[in-house]
Amino acid sequence: MNSYDIAVIGGDGTGPEVTKEALKVSEAIAAKSGFKLNWHHFDFGGDRYLRTGEVLPDSAVDELRKFKAIYLGAVGHPQVKPGILEKGILLRLRFELEQYINLRPVKLFRSQDCPLKDKGPEHVDFIVVRENNEGLYAGAGGYLFKGTPNEVAIQESVNTRRGVDRCLKYAFELAKKQRAGKPWKGLKSEDTSAGKTAQLTLCGKTNVLTYAFDLWFRAFQEMSPKYSTVKTEYAHVDAICMWFVKNPEWFDVIVTDNMFGDIITDLAAMIQGGLGVAAGGNINPEGTSMFEPMGGSAPKYTGQNVINPLAAINAAAMMLDFLGEAKAGAAIENAVIKIINTKVQSLAAGKMGFGTREVGDLVAAAL
Ligand code: IPM
Ligand code: MN
Repeated sequence: MNSYDIAVIGGDGTGPEVTKEALKVSEAIAAKSGFKLNWHHFDFGGDRYLRTGEVLPDSAVDELRKFKAIYLGAVGHPQVKPGILEKGILLRLRFELEQYINLRPVKLFRSQDCPLKDKGPEHVDFIVVRENNEGLYAGAGGYLFKGTPNEVAIQESVNTRRGVDRCLKYAFELAKKQRAGKPWKGLKSEDTSAGKTAQLTLCGKTNVLTYAFDLWFRAFQEMSPKYSTVKTEYAHVDAICMWFVKNPEWFDVIVTDNMFGDIITDLAAMIQGGLGVAAGGNINPEGTSMFEPMGGSAPKYTGQNVINPLAAINAAAMMLDFLGEAKAGAAIENAVIKIINTKVQSLAAGKMGFGTREVGDLVAAAL
C-alpha cells in the first residue's frame, strides 16, 4: 500500500477548522483508493509566536524539508503585526524550500457563483503559473535618508535567467500536458493553428518594464519552438485584467512573474466564485511542495463553524494529485462540483446553508 507522510500547519484563525475538513476528505478518499496518509502536525502561527516569540525556528525548516508535501491552513493573526507571519512562515518556506512555482487553477464550478454576466463553467477554466521565488518579492532594495524629508525607498524586481527559464519550462510542460489530445480552443483569434492543443499566455509589461520583461519575453520566445503543440500568446498585465472580466474563455495557461501573479490570481479567484473555493500550490517539482487555500485566516469567523472549507478541500485535491494520486485528486474535485451543484446555497461564509463540518461531511459522502 502506498503511504505518504505529510506535514500539516493548520495555522491561525479559521485555518485549523478548514484544515480539519481537508484532512477528513483526504482520509475518506485514501480509504476508498487504498493508500495511507500519515499527518505530522506543526503548530507554527500567531499563537505560538505570541507565546514563545518564535515564528519558525531554523530546525523546523530542515524538518519540513524532509516531507514531499506540506499542507498549510492559513497564517495571519489580529494581534501580530502584518508581515511577521506572512514573511516569517509563508514566504520563508516558499523561498527556502525553493517552491519556485505558485500554481493557481481557476475553475468556475457553477454559473451563479460567477459575478460576470453570461459566463459559466465553460468560460472560466484556466490555470495561472506564477513565479514564486523572485521578482519584487525577493526583498532587494533599501532606503536612503530614512525618516527624513529626503527619504528614498527602492524596491527592485529580481529576475534571473535561471529562475525565469525554470518557471517557463514548468508552464510549457503543463500547457502541453494539460490539454494533450484535446483540440486547441482557439478562442482568442480565428487562428486555430494545426497541431496546437493548448495556449500559453505570457503576462507581462514589456512596454514599460523593459528590462525585466524583455528577459521574460526573450526566454519565452526561445523556449517556444521546443513545444510544437503549444500556441504562444503575450498580453500586458493590465490588459489581462480587462480580459479576465470580459473574455475569460480566452485563456488556457498563463505564466507570469511573482507580483503580477499575486494580483491577477486574486481577480481570478473572484471570477471562479471567490476565496471560498480558490486553492493553490507552492511547487518545487524536485523537493517539498506546499498546498494552501487562497483565503486568509478570517479570524472573525474563528470557531463559528461558518467558514467555507471547499478551498481547503480543493488544496488537498491538488496535493494528492501532486503526490501521484491523480485519481483521488480528481475524485475530490468531482465531489466538490457535485455538492456545489446540488447542496451548497452560496460559497460565502455563513451563507452555505450548512456549517463548515457539514460541508466537509457532504464532500466525503459524495466521493
Ligand atoms: C498569496 C498571498 C501572499 C502573497 C501574502 C500573504 C504574503 O497574498 O499567497 O497570494 O502575497 O504571495
Ligand atoms: Mn495574494
